[in-house]
Amino acid sequence: MNAIEIRDLTKSFRGMYALDGLDMTVPQGAIYGFIGENGSGKSTTEKCICGHLVPDKGKITLFGRPYTDAGVRAKVGALIENAGCFPSSSVHANLMMQAINLGLKDRNGEIQRVLKIVRMEDSARLTFKKCSLGMKQRIGIAMALLGDPALLILDEPINGLDADGMRLMREILVDITKNYGCTVLISSHILGELEKIATHYGILRRGKMIKEIAASEMDARSQVYVSLKTQNLQATADLLWRSGYNVKFEEGELRIYDVENTGGLSAFLMQNGTFFSELKPHKVGLEEYYVSLMREKEM
Ligand SMILES: Nc1ncnc2c1ncn2[C@@H]1O[C@H](COP(=O)(O)OP(=O)(O)O)[C@@H](O)[C@H]1O
Ligand SMILES: [Mg+2]
Repeated sequence: MNAIEIRDLTKSFRGMYALDGLDMTVPQGAIYGFIGENGSGKSTTEKCICGHLVPDKGKITLFGRPYTDAGVRAKVGALIENAGCFPSSSVHANLMMQAINLGLKDRNGEIQRVLKIVRMEDSARLTFKKCSLGMKQRIGIAMALLGDPALLILDEPINGLDADGMRLMREILVDITKNYGCTVLISSHILGELEKIATHYGILRRGKMIKEIAASEMDARSQVYVSLKTQNLQATADLLWRSGYNVKFEEGELRIYDVENTGGLSAFLMQNGTFFSELKPHKVGLEEYYVSLMREKEM
C-alpha cells in the first residue's frame, strides 16, 4: 500500500497556480525526498496533505483512504514552518500542551517516548527559547511524533543545521522509518544530505511532478564516468572518440562515460603516449541528476 497517493492536485493563489495537476506516490516505509527550486510548490503540497490548505481540485489518498478521513488524519504528524512552541515554556510543557490537544491518554509516557526518539530525554526541563536551532528542530519532530503517526511530513527540517545537527537528524529519520515503521516525506534543497537517507525522490517543477524515482533505480542508472585531466584535451578527446569511447567536455576536463575498466582506459592512454594529471571514476550524484533534469526541462 502507498502512504500517499496524489492525483491531479491543483491549487492556485489569486489566479496563480502553485500546484498545477501534481501527481505523487509515496510508498509505505519510504523516506521520500521532495525536491524542487524555491516556489515550485513543495510547502503547498505538504500543507494540502496536512489539511492546512484546501486544494482547488485533485485527489489525496493516505494509506488507501481519503485524506479527510478522521482515522487517517490521526496517523499524520507534521512539522511545517516551525513547531509553534511557546518560547518561555519548557520542552516538556510544550509537548504536554500538544499531547492534551491531541487527546492522548498516557501523556507522560508518550512524551518520554518521543523525547527518546529525538535524543532529548535529558532536555525536557529546558526552556524552549534556550534551545539551539538543532534542538528546536528536533523538538518540532518530537511534537509531530506525538500520538505515534504512521506518516511524518517535514518541510525543510535540516535548513541551517550544523554538521552535527544534520547527522543527528539523519539518524533520527532512519530510526523512525526502520524501527517505528513510519513513512517520512521530507522536503529539502540540501541534496547532499538528502541523498544519504532518501529511499525515493520526487522532483517538482512549477507545481508539477516531473520525476519520481527510487534511490535504488537512480543508483543503478547513475552513469559512472571517468574524469580525465590532461594538457591537451582536444587531441585526447579525438583519440578517445576515434576509438569508440563516449567522451564529453565538461568543466575543463574530459568525462568518459560507460567505462567498465578504468585500468584498461589508463593503459590505452599510455600506449598512445597521452600523459594525464588525473584519471578518476565518478558516480553521478543526486545534485548532478537534478541539475541535468532541470536543464532538460528548460530546453
Ligand atoms: N498563502 C499564499 N498566498 C499566495 N501565494 C502563495 C501562498 N503560499 C504559496 N504561494 C505561492 O505558491 C508558489 C509555491 O510556493 P511554495 O509551495 O511555498 O513553494 P516551495 O515550498 O517549493 O518553495 C509560490 O509561487 C508562492 O509564492
Ligand atoms: Mg517551502
